[in-house]
Amino acid sequence: MCGIVGHLGPKNSVNIVLEGLKRLEYRGYDSAGVSYIDEHNELQIYKKTGKLENLKNLLGDQDFKARMCIGHTRWATHGEVNDTNSHPHMKDHISIVHNGIIENASTLRKQLTASGYEFKSQTDSEVFLSLLVTELAKGKGFKKAMVDSFAQVEGNSAFVVLNKDVNEIMSIKKGAPLVCGINEVNSEVFISSDPYALAGMASKLYFPGDEVLCHLSASNKNLLNFYDLEGNPTENYMSKNQDMSVGPTDKGDFEHFMLKEIHEQPELIRSLTQFYFQGEGLKSLLKAGEFKPSKFHITACGTAYYAGLLIRDFIETFNRIPCSTELASEFRYRNPLLNKDEASLFISQSGETADTLAAQELCTTNNVKTLSVVNVDGSTLFRNCDDNLLIRAGIEIGVASTKAFTQQALTGRLLSLSLSDELKDETKRVALTAKFSLLAEKIDHLISRSEEIKTIAESIHNHKGFFYTGRGKYFPVALEGALKLKEIAYVHAEGYAAGELKHGPIAMIDEDMVNVALVGPELFEKTISNIQEIKARKGIIVTIGPKDEEELEELSDYYFGIDFDGLDELSPVYINIVNQLLAYYIAKYKGTDIDKPRNLAKSVTVE
Ligand code: AGP
Repeated sequence: MCGIVGHLGPKNSVNIVLEGLKRLEYRGYDSAGVSYIDEHNELQIYKKTGKLENLKNLLGDQDFKARMCIGHTRWATHGEVNDTNSHPHMKDHISIVHNGIIENASTLRKQLTASGYEFKSQTDSEVFLSLLVTELAKGKGFKKAMVDSFAQVEGNSAFVVLNKDVNEIMSIKKGAPLVCGINEVNSEVFISSDPYALAGMASKLYFPGDEVLCHLSASNKNLLNFYDLEGNPTENYMSKNQDMSVGPTDKGDFEHFMLKEIHEQPELIRSLTQFYFQGEGLKSLLKAGEFKPSKFHITACGTAYYAGLLIRDFIETFNRIPCSTELASEFRYRNPLLNKDEASLFISQSGETADTLAAQELCTTNNVKTLSVVNVDGSTLFRNCDDNLLIRAGIEIGVASTKAFTQQALTGRLLSLSLSDELKDETKRVALTAKFSLLAEKIDHLISRSEEIKTIAESIHNHKGFFYTGRGKYFPVALEGALKLKEIAYVHAEGYAAGELKHGPIAMIDEDMVNVALVGPELFEKTISNIQEIKARKGIIVTIGPKDEEELEELSDYYFGIDFDGLDELSPVYINIVNQLLAYYIAKYKGTDIDKPRNLAKSVTVE
């Protein structure tokens, strides 16, 4: 969602902030802006809808001398996408950027308007600006005005404020991601919503807790200070060295990040198993499997939720531990039954998804052990959980998750292996390594057949709707396949349990409806019957199923035969690679913005 970057230091702050914003582009946004103090001590503000490039064009070829700057990429929530609603928002000597939602914005807005404040934008963010300006006008200091303004807003937010009068940047947040960074050698201090924006710039990162005031100032002995709500210094933050690099944001020879990330999967699988079976990850994996709960509450959103469905199957099949898998946005408000002898498992690429974080907090409050399967080391989810298993997918830029799904599901399988204590045995680990390597090898082979998938995509991309169907372990990937197509090709697609279609949705089948049938070796005959039902109603059948199956081939308008041998429980992950490529090529034929689909954000930090 919205991205925040701020900088204070002797180097040119505007260029540094623009570089940080560029790195956050992958998260999805619809406008961008910066505010800085120029060499004449004037507070400047530039903002523009559309890509960061538009903002850069607006800024022109200036030789900035700014020593302090805040910037923002906005993903609209309150108020349409236009220049005025873009951040920063400015009044007098104050400019602010905001990430999150002020839930009581309309009430506050009415009160502030009644007392004479003139709003320029339709945003909830400007409400905080007006509160701050009002508190400052009462003669309060910057710190106190921040705290008192913050006390009036409800919901999860991060605010970063530049105050020209005192040459300082101050920030406060609740339930929204925020990280500060310093580079002592260059006397620079940074702030951002995402540590990736600071890669290679800050040497040390500080993750403040909720309701901690972060104070960035060049006039203090320390460039960065943290205060509690009473204004006393606090140590309510976590620090770590910055070890991220910026390298992987290069698309290389690939047309899109999504395609590059699909291609990365075999290598990532190899390195995941090497790390957890032979390398330094084994210890953490064994530790994660030590506690055998009476039940797992698996909670996540979107693609991560579908990975959770696969993980549920692994744990229930191999560990016989009951699992409930729930969407975090539902779980958090459902008053779920939670017991101390149970465990909760949160799956997330970003580790910043608001609903998943809230679900995690709920479990912690109810004394249920929390474990994450997460990509971003040091993310909020990572920091808040009792235990974590990193999926080691590297940075995922494409908004449509591909490699993270694969790594999440496989890391879930590793967890289930650890729960059954199989990993303590070296011989077993070697055998398992072979199985995962086989998966990687087979995915390599699938990818080498991309042209065949592209040809199918070319033939079907203009049809009005798609049903992805699967049974048993292939049902979660039917859901995931449909989601992938929806988000990047903007066509209606639904994932359905193949046996369920005749209970309603079959009414929609006609000659313009495509059925992408995911068929595995299990429940083979039954799935074939389900395809027959669609075929009989003139639906177009695209089958991804076991190779050399004549019956299947005859039944299908398009048949993509694949080799499941030796993959067993890992086969849904395998078949899903075809889903990814099919969605990618359909979207390509439709000419959509594949890496940054409309209306979507990479990291969903509002509920
Ligand atoms: C996946 O393609 C989506 N963009 C989305 O469903 C995503 O998986 C979901 O928002 C959860 O994100 P997370 O993994 O960062 O928690």
